[in-house]
Amino acid sequence: MAILVTGGAGYIGSHTVVELQNAGYDVVVMDNLSNANEKVIGRVEAITGKKVPFYKADIRDREALNKIFEAEKIESVIHFAGLKAVGESVQKPWEYYDNNITGTLTLVDVMRQHGVKNIIFSSSATVYGNPAFVPITEECPKGQCTNPYGWTKSMLEQILTDIQKADNEWNVVLLRYFNPIGAHKSGTIGENPNGIPNNLMPYITQVAVGKLPELNVFGDDYDTPDGTGVRDYIHVVDLAVGHVKALKKLAPGSGLSIYNLGTGVGYSVLDIVKNFEEANGVKIPYVIRGRRPGDIATCYSSADKAEKELGWKAVNGIKEMCADSWNWQKNNPNGYED
Ligand code: NAD
Ligand code: UD1
Repeated sequence: MAILVTGGAGYIGSHTVVELQNAGYDVVVMDNLSNANEKVIGRVEAITGKKVPFYKADIRDREALNKIFEAEKIESVIHFAGLKAVGESVQKPWEYYDNNITGTLTLVDVMRQHGVKNIIFSSSATVYGNPAFVPITEECPKGQCTNPYGWTKSMLEQILTDIQKADNEWNVVLLRYFNPIGAHKSGTIGENPNGIPNNLMPYITQVAVGKLPELNVFGDDYDTPDGTGVRDYIHVVDLAVGHVKALKKLAPGSGLSIYNLGTGVGYSVLDIVKNFEEANGVKIPYVIRGRRPGDIATCYSSADKAEKELGWKAVNGIKEMCADSWNWQKNNPNGYED
């Protein structure tokens, strides 16, 4: 029996495929390659020494999904496939709702038709909106999202919760990621954003590699220790291992489970710059700019529930995250195009 990984050629998906194979699971990957490069598959195979069966297919394509479920013995799905660019989602709400929501509804329908009712879903700390309290526990109420991307995550959590409630054969795990950064130690797979990065770490690595002149720090007047935004950065390999641990919550009768995947520690933008410089011996010039619309001051997790129930805890510290992000970028300045 195999785990189907949708979006498995993407950043978090590819790292998760490595950890699944290392843990002895059979894996099948599907991805439409809208935000990924097929070379990833060969690189994952080189890391694990195992074959990765790959289907280039879209989660909205019912016929393609049926073929995969007919050809492979799938027991559970880890569902990463989705569009994730916050700014783009404001410009293209229909495309985001169609891709993420229609896609997930189609996937889940095909799953149940094939009697596969185990799913781990990639959610996000964005569902907490401006959090009612920090550290954010899973009991923290969901909040108002500031963009269509965030709403797709919030709505899909509700949809999967309702589906599980109506049919208790379903086992659903909602994983709320905080801010994944870093890359596999090999430096052969990593984050590969299209165009100018929106997120902090890929922006910093592109400054470090000389593709961008300086970092824009969005606001230094937040109510935080140094005035810049505070986030819970987590190494992508730790996040990937969290998925392997979460598989045990797909045992019959598990029902619905929700976990934060974070470290429980918050770092400011300037902390990240400083740690990156120290870890890598590279200078990151920066300029303070105005706040970015939609940003919040502080967001970090309580990671206690995942530790207690899944036996999972992030092990990589901020220096390793910075070193591994840089190792990937400097060895692959043009991502998978190198
Ligand atoms: P990514 O873009 O690297 O990976 C997503 C993958 O899904 C890509 O390979 C893309 O080609 C594929 N895809 C998109 N639409 C598809 C479709 N209709 N059919 C098939 N494949 C499709 O992003 P990522 O950072 O690896 O994120 C993975 C998941 O985790 C996403 O659902 C994302 O929203 C969620 N998430 C990411 C972060 C983050 O900071 N990276 C934070 C919270 C949640
Ligand atoms: C963003 C998304 C969030 C998504 C997450 C992971 C927004 C408002 N939120 O979170 O929905 O789940 O990415 O993909 O976009 N920063 C700079 N300069 C930069 C880039 C970022 O100063 O060039 C700052 C930001 O203001 C923030 C911190 O760095 O304080 C982290 O930003 P980012 O990496 O974009 O993540 P989030 O905003 O936390």
